[in-house]
Amino acid sequence: MFRKSFWYLGKFLNFLWASAALFFHFIFHPKQFKDFLFLVFSDINESHQMIYGRLKNFEETPFFKQLSSHLIFAQSNLLNRDFKVTRSMETHFLATLVKELKPSAIFEIGTYNGFTALHLAVNSPDHCRVYTLDLPPDYNAKHMRNVSYDDMLVIELSQRTVHQRFYKDHPLAGKITELYGDSYGFDFSSYYGKIDIVFIDGNHSFAYVKKDTENAFKMLSERGVIVWHDFDYIIHKDVFSYLNLLAQKYPIYSVPGTRFAVYLK
Ligand SMILES: C[S@@+](CC[C@H](N)C(=O)[O-])C[C@H]1O[C@@H](n2cnc3c(N)ncnc32)[C@H](O)[C@@H]1O
Repeated sequence: MFRKSFWYLGKFLNFLWASAALFFHFIFHPKQFKDFLFLVFSDINESHQMIYGRLKNFEETPFFKQLSSHLIFAQSNLLNRDFKVTRSMETHFLATLVKELKPSAIFEIGTYNGFTALHLAVNSPDHCRVYTLDLPPDYNAKHMRNVSYDDMLVIELSQRTVHQRFYKDHPLAGKITELYGDSYGFDFSSYYGKIDIVFIDGNHSFAYVKKDTENAFKMLSERGVIVWHDFDYIIHKDVFSYLNLLAQKYPIYSVPGTRFAVYLK
């Protein structure tokens, strides 16, 4: 009993010491403090999403049991990630899902720097095609309705870096087909019924997520799944609200440790 209490006391003193050391460190390194705050913020955001979101837990699905019943070695890149866009755990989850589902066709809405598109290509079978849609580089997004401040920042960055996407010089670049257009008015009809994974990560406003989702359902093949990024309350409240509503009608699950929501039949 004493041994256990001493153990806890020792760890608590370590915690106090580490907190005080960090406090003094951050006074002289404010940039690192900003990164630290971002981590705390992300944890609060994700815990809120799991506790207050109305989606069921992905870990309670038979599919999760299938995934965890064998060892899946998916490939994901840790060092080049832009962690404000996609976290390591998220990229790895996506890679694992693709590895397990062995899709023949994937459709991504929102290419940005091509980081997730490349993961989709690397982890899918050789014959798989990855279609990835983004706004054209010369598109004047300032006139678009329903664009939030943070979406606009990424759009501008995406348009400036369109020729530097991660997959550009990659041996598997041939699996990826770049498409350009505004997802709201894009003609998806040639993909209807053919896509095994639709990944929605474009404009995060309610109107767009709804429209992208409606198109995703039309594109799904018999065994198709939909993955949404940014199911979180603080930054992407519209995605959160829309998926909470949709989950009343469809089996949609929240993936612990990520901001992913997944529709599984
Ligand atoms: C968050 S980023 C995608 C990140 C990417 N999936 C990754 O993690 O590697 C969102 C992207 O959606 C694009 N986008 C925003 N609105 C769009 C629209 N209406 N139609 C198509 N793409 C859009 C932006 O230009 C941006 O590149």
